[in-house]
Amino acid sequence: MFRTFCTIAIVVLHANQAFTQDQESVLTFYEDIQPIIHTHCTPCHQPGKSGPFDLITYEDVAKRADFISYVTATKYMPPWQADPSYRTFLNERIVPEEELEKLYKWISTGLTKGDEKNKHKDLPTNFGPNPYRKPDVSYRMTKPFNIPGNQTEEFRFFNIPTNLPEDTYVEAIEFIPDNKRYVHHSRIMADTTNEIRGIDGLSETDPKVYDYQTKPLSDEFMYGWVPGNFPVFYPPGTGKKLYANTDIILNMHYAPSSVDTTDQSTINFYFNKGKVDREVYTLGLVERHIVDKFFLIKANTRESFRIEYEIENDISLISVQPHMHYLGESFIAHAITKDSVEIPLINIPSWDFNWQTTYQFKELVKVPAGSRIIAKAVFDNTMGNPLNPYIPPRDVTYGWGTKDEMMNLIMYYVKYREGDEEIDLVKLRKEKFESSKVTGDQ
Ligand code: HEC
Repeated sequence: MFRTFCTIAIVVLHANQAFTQDQESVLTFYEDIQPIIHTHCTPCHQPGKSGPFDLITYEDVAKRADFISYVTATKYMPPWQADPSYRTFLNERIVPEEELEKLYKWISTGLTKGDEKNKHKDLPTNFGPNPYRKPDVSYRMTKPFNIPGNQTEEFRFFNIPTNLPEDTYVEAIEFIPDNKRYVHHSRIMADTTNEIRGIDGLSETDPKVYDYQTKPLSDEFMYGWVPGNFPVFYPPGTGKKLYANTDIILNMHYAPSSVDTTDQSTINFYFNKGKVDREVYTLGLVERHIVDKFFLIKANTRESFRIEYEIENDISLISVQPHMHYLGESFIAHAITKDSVEIPLINIPSWDFNWQTTYQFKELVKVPAGSRIIAKAVFDNTMGNPLNPYIPPRDVTYGWGTKDEMMNLIMYYVKYREGDEEIDLVKLRKEKFESSKVTGDQ
């Protein structure tokens, strides 16, 4: 289907040579195009990452030039779900229009290669705190988990001891699925009691889970990975606290498989290098915060639900992450202050289960005490939803299974401090890149 559209697009593109042919400045791959591709495409399109092929070299790009114009012109790539006219984000994956124009002009003027000595060698590896930085520690599941080929979803718990000698603040967390096909999502929690050890692959239906659930965890939602999510990173001077000797509890969800296979995924932590004087907390708004009706999406209906939650003390939001499953159609959230000032948080007009992200704000977003956070989600449980897991549709309610539904808004925040509104996270991040280039802090 996509390829059919693609052919049409190529025809349109060639027919419409609207690009001004500037004879004097010939755009070349090494000088003009590679930096664009390496910034916006290569973090995913390189070996070991999610993209189905590499976009690194001249050949990689030149042979797919028309396809690349199509997927970028339609905004299919890079994937980014949040409506930029409602709110823009620090970690957004949007290619600026002037860069796209350059790319199209380069394609329409014959894919000039340029001088190889200007080749850009360092590949950005992620969209994290610094695309060139390597993690400080990597924790891999202690042994591979055997995913049985019995066509059932598996929800499993794992414990990974960190053996950290002292309390440490992390500025970024990254999850690397090992079995990309069957790792469906994962949730990372932190436990300091060390009483939940040895649970290599404990099933969530095991009665022991009830015992474990009574232990007070030091962090119940440290990070959630779903396909499409990238490392989360916190503003300079802030961090998520990882206590000495913490155990990481991994809650893994594996998709049904018809063949026996294995998984041994990894969590990477990037430690704060500078001073940390503010701790990052998590606020999770979930189904029990829905105020208008019971969370039941009746068969053959489109239903909308509303979450409302009052903020007690002034806070500064760092990020928002909506979460729904396949019936999700749209999600919008804002805060409203006591004086009725509306603070837009996120708008996802067309929900895509495969591309879920921790949306990080460009500035700390102050939400004053007494404000309400309001989220509205629409679910499409009709035959018209091509992703509906049940045909014919059935009544669906809350559950962890993908065929069940969820309505979550997970937010990271710090306690508000005077001057937070003035902090320019875009600038700080840029400065950090520059200084790490100088000091070699990769
Ligand atoms: C966040 C990760 C990510 C980024 C960034 C990204 N891609 Fe992709 N790309 C993917 C994945 C995953 C797929 C395969 C799934 C799909 O087609 O939806 C893909 C598929 C594609 C395809 C094939 C589409 C098809 O229908 O077969 C093209 C072409 C492509 N990407 C080009 C690009 C270009 C050009 C950029 C940069 C402007 C880019 N991508 C940025 C992850 C990414």
